[in-house]
Amino acid sequence: MIGIDNIAFATSDYFIDMKDLAESRGVSVDKYYIGIGQKQMSVIPPNEDIVTLGYSAARQILDKTDDIGLFILATESSVDQSKSAATFLLNFLKLPSNCVAYEIKQACYGGTAALFSAFDYVAMNPGKRALVIASDVARYPINTPGEATQGCGAVAMIISENPRILSINRATGVYSSDSLDFYRPNFTEEAIVDGALSARLYIKSLKNCLTDFTSKSNIKIEDIDYFCYHTPFVKMATKAHSHIDTAGQRNIDKTLIYNSIIGNTYTASLYLSFISLLDNIETDLSQKIIGFFSYGSGNVGQFFTGQIVDGYANLSKKPYNIATLKNRQKLSVKEYEMMIYEKISLYTQKNKLVVRKSNPRSYDFAN
Ligand code: HMG
Repeated sequence: MIGIDNIAFATSDYFIDMKDLAESRGVSVDKYYIGIGQKQMSVIPPNEDIVTLGYSAARQILDKTDDIGLFILATESSVDQSKSAATFLLNFLKLPSNCVAYEIKQACYGGTAALFSAFDYVAMNPGKRALVIASDVARYPINTPGEATQGCGAVAMIISENPRILSINRATGVYSSDSLDFYRPNFTEEAIVDGALSARLYIKSLKNCLTDFTSKSNIKIEDIDYFCYHTPFVKMATKAHSHIDTAGQRNIDKTLIYNSIIGNTYTASLYLSFISLLDNIETDLSQKIIGFFSYGSGNVGQFFTGQIVDGYANLSKKPYNIATLKNRQKLSVKEYEMMIYEKISLYTQKNKLVVRKSNPRSYDFAN
């Protein structure tokens, strides 16, 4: 058995309420709360990025590091075109120097690509573990339809033999094709998106992945107890799920609680949805089969399954997660605009990694 041995997420310390954004943009709040399904959105301050978010997630699950032979950082919000941000984190997380560390990209699918590369590495290297961090900042231009689907966050996962949370099944269904539904060329910090096309391709990818999956796996869709989706916004996941659960019997509400108040976290989004399920479902998930749909624009999709391991709840970080979200500071729309578009640091932060002003690529501990 190989799979997720431990998992944790991090987001920024700031959020805006979608009600405030709706009022400011002259849009009905129901469009955001109901039509898109988002209640809040995490906002990244100028002194945080994918490295600080990734660090905050990973430090919760790294006990010892000497047996970690592979570390993959999945992101589409990278800080450098050449030097991988994984090398910053290798240093901050004190990973061994004989650990291979690199960064990968395929839009939101990157986290899943990293997870399966880690799976194969562990299968080939008995006794070794791998670290996967999916970390992203979702950015769209101000006052565009995409603005309401921003967010930021990271999920860190340890992949190992005899995992304590989820055993992953290697049989998967995949679908890849070339599209320009969502992309971010080098000249812009914000994504260029054809929203309607992207939503259509997401659903097309899901259907094709399921066809491929059912032709390869001995697990049937009816055998799956819970479903987690890549969640660019809540309504996208519920629409996708209606194609699978036509009878409306397998509710996915618990998988969407965190995503609905953090927003899109690109590579981390699917795995945040899994943490939301682990934290918020009241029934015992032991031995339950979970279906995962990963979609990355451009586009690559994958459907796979895993089985929850007995005793998974011993690793629960629910109290910490709830406190993390509760302690975020609410911003006005003006403050959010200053942070995101004018890159003004409004507050100082303690016990966080920050970017030194003198050298924007040099990280150090605050205080
Ligand atoms: P929009 O065009 O402003 O919204 O942008 P809309 O007019 O399509 O309305 C959205 C929904 O709100 C509709 O519901 C409306 O009816 C409803 P639907 O018909 O879809 O069921 N609505 C209301 N409901 C209640 N009360 C009201 C009301 N008014 C309207 N008063 C869009 C929406 C999602 C397109 C935009 O936010 C966008 O472009 N977002 C970014 C792209 C995106 O997230 N795409 C998702 C699929 S692609 C993907 O997941 C990959 C991605 O994560 C990137 C990666 O892979 O790296 C994005």
